[in-house]
Amino acid sequence: MVESTRKAAIATVIDNDAIKRRFGRLTIQLAGEAARRFSQVTPGQFAQIRLSEVGLPEASSIGGDLADSARRQILLRRPFSFCNVTVESPTEVRVGILYCVLGPSTLRMTTLDKGDKINIIGPLGNGFSVPPDKKYAVLVAGGMGAPPLQHLAGFLKANYPKVQTFAFVGANTIGDLPFTVEGPKSDSPAISEFTKAGAESHIATDDGSAGFRGLVTECLDQWFKEGATPYEQSIIYSCGPEPMLAEVARLAAEHNIDCQVSMERMMACGIGVCQSCVVEARVAGGSETVYKLCCKDGPVFDSKEVVFEQG
Ligand SMILES: Cc1cc2nc3c(=O)[nH]c(=O)nc-3n(C[C@H](O)[C@H](O)[C@H](O)COP(=O)(O)OP(=O)(O)OC[C@H]3O[C@@H](n4cnc5c(N)ncnc54)[C@H](O)[C@@H]3O)c2cc1C
Ligand code: FES
Repeated sequence: MVESTRKAAIATVIDNDAIKRRFGRLTIQLAGEAARRFSQVTPGQFAQIRLSEVGLPEASSIGGDLADSARRQILLRRPFSFCNVTVESPTEVRVGILYCVLGPSTLRMTTLDKGDKINIIGPLGNGFSVPPDKKYAVLVAGGMGAPPLQHLAGFLKANYPKVQTFAFVGANTIGDLPFTVEGPKSDSPAISEFTKAGAESHIATDDGSAGFRGLVTECLDQWFKEGATPYEQSIIYSCGPEPMLAEVARLAAEHNIDCQVSMERMMACGIGVCQSCVVEARVAGGSETVYKLCCKDGPVFDSKEVVFEQG
């Protein structure tokens, strides 16, 4: 029997690579019972990580925009999804976390080194599901919504080899993509991490510095209108800023395509206790709405269910 996923485990840092200016990829290893739990992880699930005991970088290397963050105390764990999960043996699992340095916890994350230990609870929440009648998976990511979709692409390749996967990744500019861009930047560049995961990738940047110039949802809409995949055999999976998710949901409804969105909320506990992470959801077949918990009932929801916050 798999024990509760709410139990804290100690993970060992295997690698922590800086990517570009603001990103890092952390690889941690879990052993024993925790490895058994993480070997069952579904893309879209997340972990609550305690970083309060991790040291800060040298003061001289902290940029002015993060100086305030360096002074802030960390009371709570932070939620992170996974960009890949590798089951090495029944008692040894490696988990990749792609992170963006934004505040006190992620600033501390940059100092983690091979052999360091971190305290982690998970996997938590639900994940993306794959209906049996779908032949085409269309992944739509904005900003730091990309990690769970990278995980999903690899998961589909390994477990649903007949499903063809397409990834659309949006960012303000090429420097904001925490990935390796391959091919000519002005033409149709791809993302190496998605290519390796068996997905055809498309990039959209607001400033046109790589791929489509404009919003990722505009790129997606154009692609669907060109008749790329039959709607009824397609499913959209999306993760990113809420206005982007709202537009993805609108496009899915317009074309009558099934769509699952991974929602982000500030999470205090991550296990359904504090009620800090509510998502307003429609009750099927009526106009009534209820509040669901992003950490427990989500973070993945059917897009038709979510009442998106007005931007
Ligand atoms: C289910 C889930 C999965 C996530 N996966 C990843 C991931 O794979 N990689 C990654 O880099 N980040 C991920 N995040 C976001 C990450 O948890 C936050 O960026 C985290 O709070 C950073 O901690 P910090 O102490 O460095 O900065 P904080 O001081 O906690 O936050 C920095 C800034 O980001 C804002 N912020 C923080 N969390 C959220 C949120 N959930 N929604 C909206 N605004 C927020 C804060 O208001 C603040 O302005 C995920 C969040 C959720 C809910
Ligand atoms: S984060 Fe506490 S209930 Fe969701």
